[in-house]
Amino acid sequence: MHLGLEKKVVLVTGGTKGIGRAIVAGFLLEGATVHFCSRTEKDITAANTKLASDFPSAKAHGSVVDVSKLDDLNAWVESCAKESGQIDVVVPNVSCFAMKNTREDWQACFHTDMLALWSIIQTSLPYLEKTKGNVVTISSVTGRDVDFTAPSPYGAMKAAVVHYTAQLAHTMAGKGVRANCVSPGNIYIEDGVWGDIERNLPDLFKSQMALNPMGRMGKAEEIADAVVFLASQRASFVSGTNTVVDGSLCTGVQL
Ligand SMILES: NC(=O)c1ccc[n+]([C@@H]2O[C@H](COP(=O)([O-])OP(=O)(O)OC[C@H]3O[C@@H](n4cnc5c(N)ncnc54)[C@H](OP(=O)(O)O)[C@@H]3O)[C@@H](O)[C@H]2O)c1
Repeated sequence: MHLGLEKKVVLVTGGTKGIGRAIVAGFLLEGATVHFCSRTEKDITAANTKLASDFPSAKAHGSVVDVSKLDDLNAWVESCAKESGQIDVVVPNVSCFAMKNTREDWQACFHTDMLALWSIIQTSLPYLEKTKGNVVTISSVTGRDVDFTAPSPYGAMKAAVVHYTAQLAHTMAGKGVRANCVSPGNIYIEDGVWGDIERNLPDLFKSQMALNPMGRMGKAEEIADAVVFLASQRASFVSGTNTVVDGSLCTGVQL
């Protein structure tokens, strides 16, 4: 299937590790220009070097940006648009994984998972209207099912991301802008959240692994493939969806 993503300009937040890193690579494989960010300078430098060698003909631009600093985030969007001349796809991927049921975590989670996501989309919308582009947000099955993280802001904000994405799809459809959400299940990344849980909370890891009916957790590339497809022209009539990629972990029926 030809996805037609060549000449498209894509923004991905949190692109140096985990799911974001796989999304960056997924778009580069399709020939898109990708701007990505994270907070750690050495990781950005390493990612820029690695991507230049892995994808010699592709254009990858990593920048140090903390999405929770909304002015910096918005300035980054403007600088990407200026540098590449357009924005076609926006993937707000960062979560602060705030899971404590405290006022500080509720505030941090709202700020990073919801307000920064809204902010990058809001700043990008004039560019997306011009290109008839689209947004793919990243939620989680934790937004659908009450799980071991409850009570915590993480699942509540992830549910809000799904709702906001549907609102966006509906209100922007007339302007040719699509919006979809991808909700990953348990995605195992050695230097990520499940790798940490495996090392530090082995009993929790074992019990959570046992819930996965395929007998395994997902791979970051399996999320990236769904994101890249939804962002492509091959999904031109798909908007407002929440695509759950969880190996059938969720038992609820999504109607
Ligand atoms: N892994 C899973 O099982 C799973 C399941 C469901 C949903 N998700 C969702 O998938 C998304 C990615 O998760 P992941 O597991 O891939 O995370 P991850 O492995 O921890 O990677 C997070 C990436 O985001 C960057 N980042 C974190 N905070 C940032 C900030 N404030 N500003 C800019 N960059 C920031 C990190 O780099 P720095 O730390 O250097 O900034 C890193 O590149 C999240 O929305 C998460 O909720 C993950």
